[in-house]
Amino acid sequence: MNPSKSPLTTNISPELSAKTEQFTESVIREMTRLAIQYKAVNLSQGFPDFPAPIEIKRAAQDAIAADINQYAITWGAKSLRNAIAEKFSRSNGVSIDPEREITVCCGSTEAMMSAMMAIINPGDEVVVFEPFYENYGPDAILSGAQPRFVKLHAPDWKFDPQQLAAVFGPQTKAIILNTPNNPTGKVFERPELEQIRDLCVRWNVFAITDEIYEHMLYDGAKHISMATVDGMRDRTITINALSKTYSVTGWRVGWAIAPAEATSAIRKVHDFLTVGAAAPLQEAGAAALHFPQDYYDTLAREYTVRRDRLLGILTDAGFHCFKPRGAYYIMTDISSFGFPDDVAFAKYLVKEIGVAAVPGSSFYRNPADGRTHLRFTFCKTEKTFQAAAERLAKLKVGSGTRLK
Ligand SMILES: Cc1ncc(COP(=O)(O)O)c(C=O)c1O
Repeated sequence: MNPSKSPLTTNISPELSAKTEQFTESVIREMTRLAIQYKAVNLSQGFPDFPAPIEIKRAAQDAIAADINQYAITWGAKSLRNAIAEKFSRSNGVSIDPEREITVCCGSTEAMMSAMMAIINPGDEVVVFEPFYENYGPDAILSGAQPRFVKLHAPDWKFDPQQLAAVFGPQTKAIILNTPNNPTGKVFERPELEQIRDLCVRWNVFAITDEIYEHMLYDGAKHISMATVDGMRDRTITINALSKTYSVTGWRVGWAIAPAEATSAIRKVHDFLTVGAAAPLQEAGAAALHFPQDYYDTLAREYTVRRDRLLGILTDAGFHCFKPRGAYYIMTDISSFGFPDDVAFAKYLVKEIGVAAVPGSSFYRNPADGRTHLRFTFCKTEKTFQAAAERLAKLKVGSGTRLK
């Protein structure tokens, strides 16, 4: 029988989740697909194009060979949780209980989502600084939170304490903090963290702090972990991962550190979302977290060289750059190129010039707020920089105006 004639065939599909209609697919990951399609140099998505350290790769191979290939404990292999607790205390001077305060997840992405789902109730609000890492918007929607945005203002990406205080209230459940910050490169300083702390204490609010770039720091910037700020130990959920520090973004191993009660809620969500992160990669992570201090010092030094290299390339090509103090992105101002907006410019760049970057609008709730920005990443090799420099040399200030 012709299936199109079947009486069971209708044109009406069941209704989809209204939540998913409130956000689009990731612009950052779409830019990577466009980069592949147009054979462009990819300075959009933040993944290193250089190898991960040999020691972490060997540790993963050894773990597979030793048959650590079945489910780990759902909230994380003991060896990894112990290593996370040990490193957190070494770096921050705060001791945490690996048995009751850590949940290992599939990347910091899942750790953030599990944390949000573990604490949000209908009607709860979550404070988010903008520009923000694009996942936080969908994280809020999927967990049922109402996001309240507070601007970080260029050029130094400071927030106005009054604007921040104005969005806190009885409905506030959490503030999401990302330091060092993607996309701005801002590293939050102690007085700023203390202002946030005062509001969290006053309104009895969690801080969920994404510290995935904690080791990418420049020009003497210091990372302060929110959990170490007086009064915040018991209301902070710290999110981190192997992804950036050990150049293994594809491994999908991250974690949430939270007070015991919050941890048991996070563990339940995590268990039913994903069961657990890859067991052999957790063992390799435990080995990596024991790397000596020299590893982190070298990482920061090498990233400083990469940052300065990309700053030079972009400045020579006519971009106005906001110099980052942390993370591995450069936010730029593109006004002088004369394009109608960031998306038009990003498309021109990827198709005609052969360099992929992320449109600034993807970091703002209202796209118009990001229309003069483009974000580039510098977690790349010299070969990639060289290719980008050659291509961007073709770009002329005012080129958008001439195209019209
Ligand atoms: C601020 C921030 N958080 C989280 C992530 C994703 O981390 P993971 O790969 O561990 O899920 C990224 C990736 O770019 C990021 O920039």
